Amino acid sequence: MRTWVAPGRVNIIGEHTDYNEGYVLPIALPLVVRCTAAGRTDGRVRVGSRQRPGEPVLVAVSELTAQRARVPGWSRYPLGVVAEFARRGVRIPGVDLELDGAVPIGAGLSSSAALSCAVAVALRDLFAPGSTDRELIDVARAAENDYVGAPTGLLDQSAAILCTAGHALLLDVRGFIADATAARGVAHEQIPFDLARFGLELLVIDTGQPHELVDGHYAERRDQCAAAAAALGVTALRDVASAADADRIADDVLRRRARHVVTENARVLAVAEKLRDGLDPREIGPILTEGHASLRDDFEVSTPALDVAVDAALAAGAHGARMVGGGFGGSVIALVDRERTEVVVESARRRFTDAGLPDPRTFVVVPAAGAHRID
Ligand code: GLA
Repeated sequence: MRTWVAPGRVNIIGEHTDYNEGYVLPIALPLVVRCTAAGRTDGRVRVGSRQRPGEPVLVAVSELTAQRARVPGWSRYPLGVVAEFARRGVRIPGVDLELDGAVPIGAGLSSSAALSCAVAVALRDLFAPGSTDRELIDVARAAENDYVGAPTGLLDQSAAILCTAGHALLLDVRGFIADATAARGVAHEQIPFDLARFGLELLVIDTGQPHELVDGHYAERRDQCAAAAAALGVTALRDVASAADADRIADDVLRRRARHVVTENARVLAVAEKLRDGLDPREIGPILTEGHASLRDDFEVSTPALDVAVDAALAAGAHGARMVGGGFGGSVIALVDRERTEVVVESARRRFTDAGLPDPRTFVVVPAAGAHRID
């Protein structure tokens, strides 16, 4: 048996831009899902999970699609990856998968893409060695979209596969979609993200309120963005040049959704430029905070707990703070001076208590490596 890992992610900036063919800027987390795997010869897939002790799931590769509704929810991610490889003509004679996840579930840190990408790299090395990074991203995303039923963009899977240690990944989603042969180096750029050098830390504050991508809110936002693009006569909101153009939309909700996407794309490019130029990352702080206000007011995907966490971090001296991921729960990131981290954590705890919320979980993250084999 060999073992592969794939990381969770936080997006530094660029939320709800991926399915609008815009820009994103994630880092991979040091928190990973491990997948220990070996081939079988009996045509069956066996999936066990350390987090789900008990009977492992055992399904014939040829029956994966038909059995989909009968397998437990958690196992649909790994089984979806096997099914998608098989659908693409990769011969899988059977496989044993043992999973062990350390990415908090429902925290907006992309535990699901970490899971599907860990399985995807394992299956690539075992059965489809010619697959490109791009194909792995597509396979993992198809597993989530078609097999699990979560209509995600490709931010999370791209981060899990393409990120490198010490860097943020600037991804131009439209360029990436257009270039089917894109491997490393096309439509994306590794931008140095070294906070320690500037005495800074990136603190994650997990509200503990789980978010769900399959509950309809996320799909509703996607539909609203498509409707806003149609109202402006463009293919995707990526094509809208300025917030003033977005403001031409008559419908108030669609106008605000479009304004978020347009201003968020601009924020990604502004942050990327500052980091690329080697400026003090404190300079990106206000842009992160603006991104939060936009997600809260225009895109309306924040929650009171996320807002409390952002406000607490800023009040305690964070240079910038914002919710990350799809929203409706999950986590906040805060850019803080190293010596202020504990003060920010205390401030968040106090404000959560005052608001009648359970203690948040907090931890510091650094940009880690994308998916790879570890032994
Ligand atoms: C979730 C989705 C991503 C992306 C983010 C919001 O994490 O899986 O594709 O849309 O929300 O930026």
